[in-house]
Amino acid sequence: MDREPEPELMNKKSQVKAYCAADFSLGENNLIKFISNYLKINNINLSKNDLIVDLGCGPGNISEKLSERWPDVNVLGVDGSQEMIREAESRLFKNKIVNKYRNLNYLCSDIRKISSHEIFSRKKITLLVSNSLIHHINHIDNFFKFIINLSNKETINFHKDLIRPKDQETALKLRDKCSQKFSSILTNDYYASLKASYRKNEVQEKILELNLNSMNVIEETKEYLIVYGKV
Ligand SMILES: C[S@@+](CC[C@H](N)C(=O)[O-])C[C@H]1O[C@@H](n2cnc3c(N)ncnc32)[C@H](O)[C@@H]1O
Repeated sequence: MDREPEPELMNKKSQVKAYCAADFSLGENNLIKFISNYLKINNINLSKNDLIVDLGCGPGNISEKLSERWPDVNVLGVDGSQEMIREAESRLFKNKIVNKYRNLNYLCSDIRKISSHEIFSRKKITLLVSNSLIHHINHIDNFFKFIINLSNKETINFHKDLIRPKDQETALKLRDKCSQKFSSILTNDYYASLKASYRKNEVQEKILELNLNSMNVIEETKEYLIVYGKV
């Protein structure tokens, strides 16, 4: 199945509402566990001098989990969709009243337009994280361009995303499974995302071409991959 790109930003109100209503916590918690294990194995302890950036943070699902897992570390969620950031900010406002996520902030910005110097000059980024962002990026070259632009030599990257199914039949089966749990708007978005996703070999080829010897890509399951390491 050939890749069919989808729009980068999720700006439609109905789309954002459907996304926010869904529970993706299982996959999200697995990403947090993966990051925690990586840091543990490599004897890395995060402190208040570190900064975690969640790219394409949407309504803040992963940003909130990062903030909770590392309460002493500043966490910044970045998304180019005003609708998504509005949702994220509204959740944050309610949570800060009850003293939750005090280390978390959001920024509405398109990652195609930001550079590490402009935005993150206060601190260097320690962890650069994303979940379900890569398939939105119209070309895999651009994804690597963005993360290289935002990373320094210490930055550890963790980016999880869908894997494009091997054929249309598999994609349709996954769409049907999704429709049993989620709304039609979300199901259609998920199907578009499946078709827009990359495969492990496509990401791996780019890693080799760019000589990113400290980057890896693994298939976490048949449906998800994780790109991680230093650029
Ligand atoms: C599928 S959502 C994932 C949201 C969140 N990471 C999560 O795990 O729930 C992808 C998000 O990436 C954002 N996005 C896509 N391309 C972007 C870009 N170029 N700059 C900033 N945000 C972008 C979209 O607006 C959308 O909110």
